[in-house]
Amino acid sequence: MKNIDTTVTQTESNRAAKSITDQFYEDVIAGLTETPKHLSSKYFYDANGDKLFQDLMNCDEYYPTYCELEIFSDKTADICKAITGNGDPFDLIELGAGDATKSAYLLKYLLDNKADFTYLPIDISSNVISYLNIALPITLPGLQIAGLNGEYFDMLEKAASISNKRKVLLFLGSNIGNMPVSEAEVFCGKLRSHLSPGDMLLVGFDLKKNPKTILAAYNDKEGITKRFNLNLLERINRELKGDFDINQFEHYPTYDPETGACKSYLVSLVDQKVSINNTATISFLKDEYIFMEISQKFTVAQTDKMAMDSAFKPIYHFYDSKKWFTDVIWVAE
Ligand code: AVJ
Repeated sequence: MKNIDTTVTQTESNRAAKSITDQFYEDVIAGLTETPKHLSSKYFYDANGDKLFQDLMNCDEYYPTYCELEIFSDKTADICKAITGNGDPFDLIELGAGDATKSAYLLKYLLDNKADFTYLPIDISSNVISYLNIALPITLPGLQIAGLNGEYFDMLEKAASISNKRKVLLFLGSNIGNMPVSEAEVFCGKLRSHLSPGDMLLVGFDLKKNPKTILAAYNDKEGITKRFNLNLLERINRELKGDFDINQFEHYPTYDPETGACKSYLVSLVDQKVSINNTATISFLKDEYIFMEISQKFTVAQTDKMAMDSAFKPIYHFYDSKKWFTDVIWVAE
């Protein structure tokens, strides 16, 4: 089963490769011709971006990593008991799996306890999926895995076409924070429509805390976050024949404790023109910004409300010792 699924995934990702570049071009041009200018943070994750993101996740200031890791390493048994339910076979589907460091705790515990499950990691990065398909069966012998490379909902539909088992979705790392609250609510409703009653969603939320702590995590001293943002301009240069001069843009992170929105911008340092693919010219005024990313912070009450508004019931809340981060389990009603 493993081999067949892996082959299917790779064929599909080759076919998807062309349309992903077209989509990238369309989204970049659309975002840079609007006022204010914006780019989608989902395009951060090319091979270079993945590498920078790894470094970012491991930098001192980026607390979400160690907070959520603490939850997964200290509460492994409780989380696994909650998602295993009555022991029926299930699909463990992870949205935006990355290097699967956190989920590996669950995978190991589930394998050790002979749970009957298949792991279906979904990621926008083809690089990530080929790595997981190869590396995880080596570190976790006996793991049934079929990586899916593409957009969340396309791949959820694909997962449903492969299997009709009970589903447990993982959406970790406060990836949900990459959407403004209203969009996250719509997103949860859409996730719910891909699930049946009894299916579960385990989702990680970064919580509101001292604003300085939050801002520092998006403005690390080493400048990794800055390079992570600038890499998207470099990716446009590489993949879409752009001519951005990244020295003419400055990283500007902000956090608003009232709304919980942490946002980052790239600000143009001069009046300048940038050409993309010889088909478009984008003009920047000095001090004009590109909105790059939102990393929304939540209260627990907000997350409970979000669950109930999208026909889920929150059944467990797990916290790190500082209560800076929470992983919640919602069951589809
Ligand atoms: C992976 C989306 C959760 O928003 O905190 C980290 C990405 N951006 N530093 C986040 C990110 C800048 C991260 N997420």
